[in-house]
Amino acid sequence: MRTIDDLGDVRGRTVMVRSDLNVPLDRDTITDDGRIRASMPTLRRLSEAGARVVVTAHLGRPKGQPEPRYSLAPAAARLGELLGTTVPLADDVVGDDARAVVEGLGDGDVGMLENVRFEPGETSKDDAERGALADRLAALADAFVSDGFGVVHRKQASVYDVAQRLPHAAGELVLAEVKVLGTLIEDPKRPYTVVLGGSKVSDKLGVIDNLLGVADTLVIGGGMVFTFLAAQGHPVGRSLLEADQLDTVRASLDRAASSGVKVVLPTDIVVAGEVDASASATVVPADQMPDDQIGLDIGPDSATVFADEVARSATVFWNGPMGVFEIEKFAAGTRALARSLAACDGLTVVGGGDSAAAVRTLGFDDADFGHISTGGGASLEMLEGKTLPGLAVLED
Ligand code: 3PG
Repeated sequence: MRTIDDLGDVRGRTVMVRSDLNVPLDRDTITDDGRIRASMPTLRRLSEAGARVVVTAHLGRPKGQPEPRYSLAPAAARLGELLGTTVPLADDVVGDDARAVVEGLGDGDVGMLENVRFEPGETSKDDAERGALADRLAALADAFVSDGFGVVHRKQASVYDVAQRLPHAAGELVLAEVKVLGTLIEDPKRPYTVVLGGSKVSDKLGVIDNLLGVADTLVIGGGMVFTFLAAQGHPVGRSLLEADQLDTVRASLDRAASSGVKVVLPTDIVVAGEVDASASATVVPADQMPDDQIGLDIGPDSATVFADEVARSATVFWNGPMGVFEIEKFAAGTRALARSLAACDGLTVVGGGDSAAAVRTLGFDDADFGHISTGGGASLEMLEGKTLPGLAVLED
């Protein structure tokens, strides 16, 4: 993959950077700026080298037209704070204002285009429509740096098609993510433990399938665990259950058994009648969940067992919270797991937007972990062994 060095001297050249600034917002307030901070090394490096940097990014999933609530204004303001300068934000993507912002950049300046998903061409499945937007984006710059790791699994105009139209390179974040996640599939130090949680088992089946050939231990918690418990014949009350995945989950469990991968499921579960902070919570054995209760976290015994698995691992990948961590009484499992990763001497990788937000919300520091991936879907697809269009295009 070409790097920024391969672009040669960038002083005075306009370099378009595709970043992933898709951060969680509470109205105008950014609640986790991890993705913006992770974008800084590339932006700083290009700016210090004298490039005129124009950032393109998305926020949320607007439907191909401007929607004020999806404006990148909060991200531009935060970027400016981190860079110690003002970052002008164009009020369009490739229109008159975008051109004016780009023309106004001096050497070392950083400017931004408005949410690229305000243009229907960005996410279009039609190559010509995407290409037309990519032509207009490419016309604004002399070179392209792909640094939005969180979107490299998307074949979108600003991720894929622009790279085909300009001299291109992978940015610092993309290189760092590919290096760490590549280690996890190709050459992990052993024992290698994968901890999966989160609500949907159907989102994780591809990863489970691929990791059954690589990991030594698979630890499962979160909402998805109830489909596993049901697949083993246990009652799961009113917990989340993907009944249409039961056969697939049974097949995964069989495959794990035949390939010698240890699968660790919770032995106790925190249950309540409602997903509510005021509901009364009790701990029950995982194979005896009452019919009227909902499983909302792993129990304390499970948390200890999971932590022991992590402690004896040389490599750990974790994706997905263990329970409804947003409500304090259901956060203990996720907190215990995060604590065990923080204490582990091996390489610990936290992947996925929810898990990254969980560890930060629960008060952990990025430095407590070996690597916090900025990719949700992208990191999972990489671990599934898929070819990601936004990475493949950088190979040419
Ligand atoms: C993410 O949040 O995972 C990335 O920013 C990609 O967003 P998307 O799933 O809306 O394409």
